[in-house]
Amino acid sequence: MFENISDKYRPDEPVRPQKRKWPARTLDTVPIWCSVDMRDGNQALVRPLSPEDKLTFFKLLVKLGFKEIEIGYPSSSTTEFEFVRTLIDGGHIPDDVFIQVLTPVKENLIERTFESLKGAKNVILHFYNNLSPLHREVVFDTDLEGVSSLAINCAKIIKKYGDECKQAGMNIKYEYSPESFTSSNTDEVIGVCSKLMDILVRDEGKLIINLPATVENLMPNQFADVIEYFIENLPNREKAIIGVHPHNDRGTGVAAAEMALLAGAERIEGTLFGNGERSGNLDIITLALNMLSNGIDPKLDFSDILSVRKIYEKVTGMHVHERHPYAGQLVFTAFSGAHQDAINKGMHAMESGRRKRWAVPYLPIDPADIGRKYDSIIRINSQSGKGGAAYILETQFGYILPRPMRPDFGKVVQAETERSGSELSYERLYELFRDTYIDIDTPYRLAKYKFDDHTDGDGHSVVDFSGTLDYKDTHYEISGSGNGPIDAFFNAVRNLDISDFRFVSYSEHAVSSGSDSKAAAYIELMSPSGKTVFGVGLSHNIYKASIKGIICAINRALANGDI
Ligand code: KIV
Ligand code: ZN
Repeated sequence: MFENISDKYRPDEPVRPQKRKWPARTLDTVPIWCSVDMRDGNQALVRPLSPEDKLTFFKLLVKLGFKEIEIGYPSSSTTEFEFVRTLIDGGHIPDDVFIQVLTPVKENLIERTFESLKGAKNVILHFYNNLSPLHREVVFDTDLEGVSSLAINCAKIIKKYGDECKQAGMNIKYEYSPESFTSSNTDEVIGVCSKLMDILVRDEGKLIINLPATVENLMPNQFADVIEYFIENLPNREKAIIGVHPHNDRGTGVAAAEMALLAGAERIEGTLFGNGERSGNLDIITLALNMLSNGIDPKLDFSDILSVRKIYEKVTGMHVHERHPYAGQLVFTAFSGAHQDAINKGMHAMESGRRKRWAVPYLPIDPADIGRKYDSIIRINSQSGKGGAAYILETQFGYILPRPMRPDFGKVVQAETERSGSELSYERLYELFRDTYIDIDTPYRLAKYKFDDHTDGDGHSVVDFSGTLDYKDTHYEISGSGNGPIDAFFNAVRNLDISDFRFVSYSEHAVSSGSDSKAAAYIELMSPSGKTVFGVGLSHNIYKASIKGIICAINRALANGDI
């Protein structure tokens, strides 16, 4: 298809650790989370956040439990600067939260950045520059010495301003990002970072070294290799916090972050729902909830994921895709009949208390843990089967269809979804059930009824039935006795045209709606032509419910010509 494609694209050859350790590790530690939504995310929005939106977002991030939040790039515009002031002057920053601000390596911009921070309690001063050969060659027209000296000189300036801030009582940490880290020479980056540590980490404290996949160009395993190599070769490694800042150009940002954590990264920068330049940043929500699904408390609170999604969509104007992990509208929904059936059984097994560990087929986590309800798990369209419809009738409306009846109702649902070509709402599903099985009172209708229970001379229970059965304009006065209401009814209609129907099976249960409780009786008959037919009777009186069920089944058979 492409000619000489390998001349045009060639994978980067990343460094490899001498002996990889990360593949043998398991993920068991929660990283330091840092949200960069309000800087990296914001700078990628079609309509950047207004100051009000930013405040809403900041409050959301605090509520979710972030302790490190990059709030902007204060030297880039008055709006950005003013927003930092709003947070500080307005007292919006909790005592245990560090605000992070980004600055490029330019003295005047560093000065302006520090100016924005006056009065803040906890700050991370984040500076960055690009050391990669590509940038040196095509963007800056300089060499390694040129870019490293910029970083080193600015680190000294930052140290001077930072010391003043410390004296004024500020808790200040420093963060350096070698932009385009994954396209840079790792040994060169180590060399620069080591010099920055000498300047910025004197007695106590650590330098946050944030290693960005500015454009994701490596496979996740290669990213992990580079991170492990970096950590193993950085002098005085204990004086650094190694963080990663994955982007998602290859669609593997989350995988890259997970493998980087295995490789020893301790800190993660990312955004909610992966908002960010191009294909976005690492999605912190997915990473955190992946941890949750492995039994690790991520220490971020996504127990009401739908509100998070709502606020995010409102302030950013972005849309969270229906299939987005954990948060998408459809990710806890099954349309397929086989899946619905398995979920239905899995949920019952969980409810029975037989299992402690979450194990419901097709549901990676318990939707309730992130505030999602069970009621939308199963949705009905033409792909769905009997199990899903039965599950909804049971969980939403309280009707427990006997197993033999499920395929019959499945066909009714299938016909309706194919006819409408769309999904069935729960209400429509219930209407179909009711209109098909319950309210069928023509041509036969039970106009009057009376039951009498007693015991015969041999001690057997006997039910006497008498009543009026209407057939079109004819009223039949009927009566009969039997060992139960169904037997009594069939004896009562022995002389009518319907006497050839045969009783096959019966089940019943109570259905409650509010304080009202009725009995539902499910009747399976065999028609004179040998076909199975179902009817459902609903009444406060269980005997009457049974008889109504029989009449419904007969009426249905007559309507279908099954006689
Ligand atoms: O992606 C990137 O390289 C960045 C840096 C400024 C950290 O956002
Ligand atoms: Zn970035």
